[in-house]
Amino acid sequence: MSNRPATYTTREPALHTDNDSDAQAFVGLEVQAAAEHELPAQPHAPIMRAQGLNVYYGDFHAVHDVNLSFGKNEITALIGPSGCGKSTVLRCLNRMNDLVTSCRVEGEVLYHDVDIYGRKVDPIQVRRHIGMVFQKPNPFPKSIYDNIAYGPKVIGMQVDSMDDHVEEALRGAALWDEVKDKLKQSAYGLSGGQQQRLCIARTIATRPDVILMDEPCSALDPIATSRIEDLMNDLRRDYTIIIVTHNMQQAARVSDRTAFFTARPDETTGNRTGLLVEFDLTKKIFSRPEDQRTEDYISGRFG
Ligand SMILES: Nc1ncnc2c1ncn2[C@@H]1O[C@H](COP(=O)(O)OP(=O)(O)OP(=O)(O)O)[C@@H](O)[C@H]1O
Ligand SMILES: [Mg+2]
Repeated sequence: MSNRPATYTTREPALHTDNDSDAQAFVGLEVQAAAEHELPAQPHAPIMRAQGLNVYYGDFHAVHDVNLSFGKNEITALIGPSGCGKSTVLRCLNRMNDLVTSCRVEGEVLYHDVDIYGRKVDPIQVRRHIGMVFQKPNPFPKSIYDNIAYGPKVIGMQVDSMDDHVEEALRGAALWDEVKDKLKQSAYGLSGGQQQRLCIARTIATRPDVILMDEPCSALDPIATSRIEDLMNDLRRDYTIIIVTHNMQQAARVSDRTAFFTARPDETTGNRTGLLVEFDLTKKIFSRPEDQRTEDYISGRFG
């Protein structure tokens, strides 16, 4: 399906690799990213780690005891049935859940070994380093140029030339050629796929380390989706990406590692608490998952 070049290399020592044909055979999915370069079974020096993460909305225990490591310059996909807590976990990774008053987070989220929930940590700074792209493109009601320039201005980022900075961000999001002649026009005049790339450009304009994406292609057609997937492949050189997706093919195509979540009903209340079932190299998850629940889900028998 894709014939993208293998642009990403890792400095981590390669461990044993699996047979690619096994990966293809299991569910017939193309396993793109992990097949092209060899990664260690676990991220060696993870840029982020969630440890003992439990999340509550009021009394409702939404996510139970999640432990996950995110490798630098890797793409990690979070998959699983609706309501299993993928977005909740993703939002914990840059303290976006702070904005939900009923939400309580227990455990640690370490970013470069600093707990982002530490008492002295400023959530605004956290979100500067760990940016987010949402499901629905949400440009500001401003010009294309101002959508990009706004973030750096607000955080007082020192740039030599804002024009150059805007161009760099738009080039980084593979949008420059399409918008360079209409920078002063409203962002609302762009197509959905262009708006989503503008939102990615807006995110990278403040030079984060990590980009969180919550179903970034769910509102896009296959061509726009393919452009975003190509873009993610390019962005991996400079960024760490964590993506929630319902699209199995997308997870298999773009990610290096995949975390499969499911939800387990509470015996007394019947409320469904999300939990992490399995986290591994994408190639392994889509070829020989350890857990029957993962196999059932990715082969379409559940969810
Ligand atoms: N703001 C909130 N207040 C109360 N409960 C919430 C809130 N956000 C999510 N939940 C609940 O937490 C659980 C996990 O929701 P979450 O949105 O993280 O799931 P998800 O895996 O992202 O689902 P989907 O695939 O449908 O987007 C669900 O039961 C949901 O109803
Ligand atoms: Mg969600």
